[in-house]
Amino acid sequence: MAEHNVDAVVIGAGPGGYHAAIRLGQLGKKVICVDRDEVGGVCLNWGCIPTKALLHVGEVIRHIDHAGAIGLKVPKADVDREGVAKFKTDVVNSNVGGVKTLFKANNVQFMYGQAAFKSANEIVVRNKDGAEDSIKAQYAVIATGSAPIDVKAWPRDGEYIINSDDAVKLERLPKNLLVIGGGVIGLEFATVYTRMGSKVLVIEALPQILTGTDLEISKALGRILKKQGVEIMLGTKAGEIKKDGKTVKATFNGEGTSGKDETREFDCVLVAVGRRPVTDGLNLENAGLSTNERGFIDVDAQRRTKVSNIFAIGDVTGPPLLAHKGMKEGVIAAEVIAGDRSAAFDPIAIPNCIYTDPEVATVGLSEEEAKAKGHEVRIGKFPLAASGRARTMNESDGLIKLVGDAKTDILLGMHIVAPQAESLIGEGVIALEMGATMEDIGLSIHPHPTLTEGIMDAAEAAHGKAIHIVNPKKPAPSAQPVGAR
Ligand code: NAI
Repeated sequence: MAEHNVDAVVIGAGPGGYHAAIRLGQLGKKVICVDRDEVGGVCLNWGCIPTKALLHVGEVIRHIDHAGAIGLKVPKADVDREGVAKFKTDVVNSNVGGVKTLFKANNVQFMYGQAAFKSANEIVVRNKDGAEDSIKAQYAVIATGSAPIDVKAWPRDGEYIINSDDAVKLERLPKNLLVIGGGVIGLEFATVYTRMGSKVLVIEALPQILTGTDLEISKALGRILKKQGVEIMLGTKAGEIKKDGKTVKATFNGEGTSGKDETREFDCVLVAVGRRPVTDGLNLENAGLSTNERGFIDVDAQRRTKVSNIFAIGDVTGPPLLAHKGMKEGVIAAEVIAGDRSAAFDPIAIPNCIYTDPEVATVGLSEEEAKAKGHEVRIGKFPLAASGRARTMNESDGLIKLVGDAKTDILLGMHIVAPQAESLIGEGVIALEMGATMEDIGLSIHPHPTLTEGIMDAAEAAHGKAIHIVNPKKPAPSAQPVGAR
C-alpha cells in the first residue's frame, strides 16, 4: 500500500471539491483530491454543464423555428441526435480538461478511487483494480455531493425508466416522455426534450411547479412552457410505473386527472423527484462523524464538522443543492484550513437559476416568504412585453418582479423569468448583499437598450413611477415615500 503524507485531502472533485483543492494549492498546502469518478463531479459531467449545452441546442432550435417571424427563410431544424450528443461531450471534456490543468498548475494531486476514513487523520483510497493508497492528512474536506433519488417502485433501467444521469446522455429521443416532478431538473429536461421534438408531460404532486419559487414567477413560467407545448399537470401524483414491452405504462392521480387514476403509455419516463446526499462507502464513523436525520453532514459557518480537522462542503451539507454554493464553501473551508480564522460562509443571498427557455432566476425572499416573515411588502413588476430590447430580440414573454419591505424600501428579493435571467440576477445579488433599497435600484442608470432596464423599471414601478408601463395603483399609504430613508 502506497503511503502519502499531506496537509489536506479533499474527497470529491466536483465544483465544491475542486474549488477547495485549488485554493489549498494556491495557499501553498500539500493537497490530494480524490474521486471515484471523473474530475468535475456531477456539475461538469452529468449536470450543469452538459444540460446547459443541450439547452443551448434547444435555444438555437427555437431561434430557427421562429426565424420566419423576423423575416428569415430558414428550413426547419433537423436534429442529429448523435451530433448533439457529441457537441455536449466535447463541451464536458474541455471543461474537465480545464480543471485538470488547474490542478497541475496549483500542485493539486488527483487520485482516482473510492475514499474511506480509517480514522480522522487517515484515509484509504481503493482504485478499480483493488489497489489501495493510504493518505495521512492533517485536514480532510468532504465534498461528495448528491445523486438522484431513485424510487424503488419505479425501477430504473436507464432506457425506459430513467433519471437525470441517463437523460443527459441523450441516447434516444422518445416520442412521448413523462417527467415525474416539476422541480428544476424535471423542467430543464422537459425543455430540452420538447425542443428536440418529444411530446412531454410533466406531473407535479404539489400545487405549483418549482415549489418555493415566487408563485407569480412559477405561474408565468408554467404559462410559457405550456405555450411551447409542454403539458403540465399540477397536484398530480405518480403511482404505478410499469415497463410493458417497448413502452411504459404510467398511472397518475390528482387534479390533472380529476381525482381518478389515469393510465397513459409513454416511450420513456424520467424520474426527477429530488436528490440525496452521497456518503456511502466513506466510513464516516471511523472518523467520529455521522449524518443527520436527512442524511446530510452538519457543519458550522466555517464548514467544519463536529470533528475539528474535518470539513464538509456542497450538496452533502444540505440545501440549497447548488454548485455555486458548494464552490464558495470550498474556498472558505480551504482558507480556514490555511489559517484564516475569520473566513466564514455567511452569504445574505444565494441566487438560483433554472435553465428553462426563457430562464428563471431568483434571489432572496419570494412575496410569499416575505409576508410569512412578517414584512409588509412593496412589489415592483415589469412585464417583458414592455421592454424595447426584448422586442428587438423577439422574446417578449417574461416578468421581472422585485419584492421590497414597504417600511424601509429595502429590497428583499428579485425574481425574473426572462431570456438571460441567469445574468440579470447578478444585479439582485449585489443589491441584496449591499442592502440596497428599491429607490437605489430605480435611481441607478441602466444602459439602454438592455433587458437590465426592466429591473430599473420594476424598481420604479414599486413607487408608481415606471416610465415604460402604465403604473399600477400608488403604493399603500403606509409605504414610506421615496427618498425617506
Ligand atoms: P426538486 O426537489 O427540485 O423537485 C422534485 C419535484 O418532484 C418536487 O416538486 C416534488 O413535489 C415532485 N414529486 C415528488 N414525488 C412525486 C410524485 N410521486 N409524483 C409527482 N411529483 C412528485 O428536485 P429535482 O428537480 O430533482 O432537483 C434536485 C436538486 O438539484 C434541487 O435541489 C436543485 O436545487 C438542484 N439542481 C439545480 C439546478 C440548477 O441550479 N439549475 C439544476 C439541477 C438540479
